[in-house]
Amino acid sequence: MEVKVGAAKQIRGSVRTAGDKSVSHRYAMLAGLAEGTSEFENFSSSADCASTLACMEAMGARVRRNGNRVEVDGVGGELSAPARDLDCGNSGSTMRMLSGVVAAQPFTSVMIGDASLSSRPMRRVIEPLQQMGARIESNDGCAPLTIYGAKLKGIDYQPSVASAQVKSCVLLAGLFAEGETTVIEPVRTRDHTELALKAFGGETTRVGERVSVRGGQKLRALKAYVPGDLSSVTFFLCAAALFPGSSLVVDSVLLNPTRSVVLDVLAGMGVKISFLKMEEQHGELIGTMQAEGGIFEGGVIYGAQSAALIDELPAIAAIAPYSTKGVEIRGATELRVKESDRIHAVVRNLRAMGAVVEEFPDGMRIPGGQNLHGAEIESFHDHRIAMAFAVAALRAEGETTIKNAESVAVSFPEFFEALARVVE
Ligand code: S3P
Repeated sequence: MEVKVGAAKQIRGSVRTAGDKSVSHRYAMLAGLAEGTSEFENFSSSADCASTLACMEAMGARVRRNGNRVEVDGVGGELSAPARDLDCGNSGSTMRMLSGVVAAQPFTSVMIGDASLSSRPMRRVIEPLQQMGARIESNDGCAPLTIYGAKLKGIDYQPSVASAQVKSCVLLAGLFAEGETTVIEPVRTRDHTELALKAFGGETTRVGERVSVRGGQKLRALKAYVPGDLSSVTFFLCAAALFPGSSLVVDSVLLNPTRSVVLDVLAGMGVKISFLKMEEQHGELIGTMQAEGGIFEGGVIYGAQSAALIDELPAIAAIAPYSTKGVEIRGATELRVKESDRIHAVVRNLRAMGAVVEEFPDGMRIPGGQNLHGAEIESFHDHRIAMAFAVAALRAEGETTIKNAESVAVSFPEFFEALARVVE
């Protein structure tokens, strides 16, 4: 599917998105494992979370879905051997986090994914799971993964990459392992797994950068509203950043501090962000905020900030040429192993729109004050690239064509309709 996006004058109105993808994945997995029926409102509409639900169903959980309302009958800790391969689709979160769960089951599972997922690095989860006692076969460190479930033992593990998926994989495996399992985080990453475990009646402890879980804990069902997806909302905040005077109200969105670094960064770059309401639900912060466009200055993003912003970097990079001072992103090598090589994808598409960009192995430098023109955008079948350049197109001269725009469904199927509602 191709989508054409023209220039806009202003961004005005309100946006409310389906539930956060990261939170929905965890709720789906833990609900499948728990005792009793969990009920979720505003569950993520993403194809990725549908993959997680389907995998849990294949292992005995029962799922009833009515739009964004999802009910899951959990198996009370006793998953059953899947009759078919566990298809994770495009979802790295599904494959990496669920591999921790299946590694501890008394059966063998085969985890598969699409072409993009089958080329993404899985050694980062294979290695700790092997240390815990699992036997795993892979295609040279990539999917398909054949996981021979085993009795696992708790370990202390320090991942070499800052990754919430790796942390979650090890903690979920630790839930079934003998003794205690500890992850020592090189950089603090999103803590949804820790919060979700607590919401389902489990427990993790954190001392500094060490997060631990005890094996053998029982989980009980949860009823929850899933806060709106802040990474999806970021595309709208970036659209608002492009037009001084734009104003956007974002309702019921996730504001977890391990995810909201994007708000600090955008505020530092000139977007005015104010919070109208905030509350905590099951450990997750949720609120309503307003974003207003002013002078979009740009700035430098590096180190731990890059890790905390990893999903939001494509959107910020795509609007960077319109900033006054430019944007430099460093320490973001992980962008190269996402759904596409996002550094290459951003650089290629910015250049197609006429921008000057300097590419580094770990990031890019994009001078400010540039005028872009419409172009044909190669999305590389990557949802965040398609959405980032739909936003960049709003300030470009002429029309932009987003190729393979259907990929937005991986995280945000309603993206183009929601964007059309706030563009003037
Ligand atoms: C996620 C963690 C991040 C992020 C991904 C979702 C999660 O991946 O990019 O979209 O839900 O834990 P890494 O763990 O690879 O950094």
